Amino acid sequence: MENFLSDIFIDEEKIQAKVQELGCQLTEDLENKEPVFICILKGSILFFADLIREVKIPLEVDFLKASSYGAGTESPGIVEMAFDLKIDLTDRHVVLVEDIVDSGHTLKYIQNFIRKLKVASLTTCTLLDKPDRRTVDVSVDYSCFVIPDAFVVGYGLDFDQKFRNLPYIGILKESYYSE
Ligand code: IMP
Ligand code: MG
Repeated sequence: MENFLSDIFIDEEKIQAKVQELGCQLTEDLENKEPVFICILKGSILFFADLIREVKIPLEVDFLKASSYGAGTESPGIVEMAFDLKIDLTDRHVVLVEDIVDSGHTLKYIQNFIRKLKVASLTTCTLLDKPDRRTVDVSVDYSCFVIPDAFVVGYGLDFDQKFRNLPYIGILKESYYSE
């Protein structure tokens, strides 16, 4: 798989250190709040699994599915959602866990949906943030890494559904997706 990458961008050690740091922060911030952590599928799976293990307070988990990308690298700005939350979020402290904020469309859409559920609070965490690509104004409380405009894969992030299983984040060779 490494043949398709132009670079290892963020290695495992750096990811784990940041995730641990964020977990400590959330442990402090959410003490006695019995938060509900929501994993935004599919991209957040690895980040989510690692992050919740670093949050040392009682919490619940739930899942939302969002897709805004087809097989390309540009977001069409259309977000397809599957709203099958199992937990009633009314009056709950909710933590959204996202893989990457690019244009901001996906996150904005999900935040609007969650806010309508009359939650007690909404905290948003993202593994990666590409602020240069933002086209809608969206609030992010915690970003592990702010990155420049490049298409990245690994640690949950895909290109055409592949590369999610890489334990680090790599930059995909342009020749791989421009063919
Ligand atoms: P947005 O709606 O444009 O902010 O796009 C967010 C979604 O697009 C993310 O949740 C990812 O699934 C996907 N995405 C954005 N940039 C990348 C990238 O560099 N690599 C892989 N997926 C990405
Ligand atoms: Mg995603």
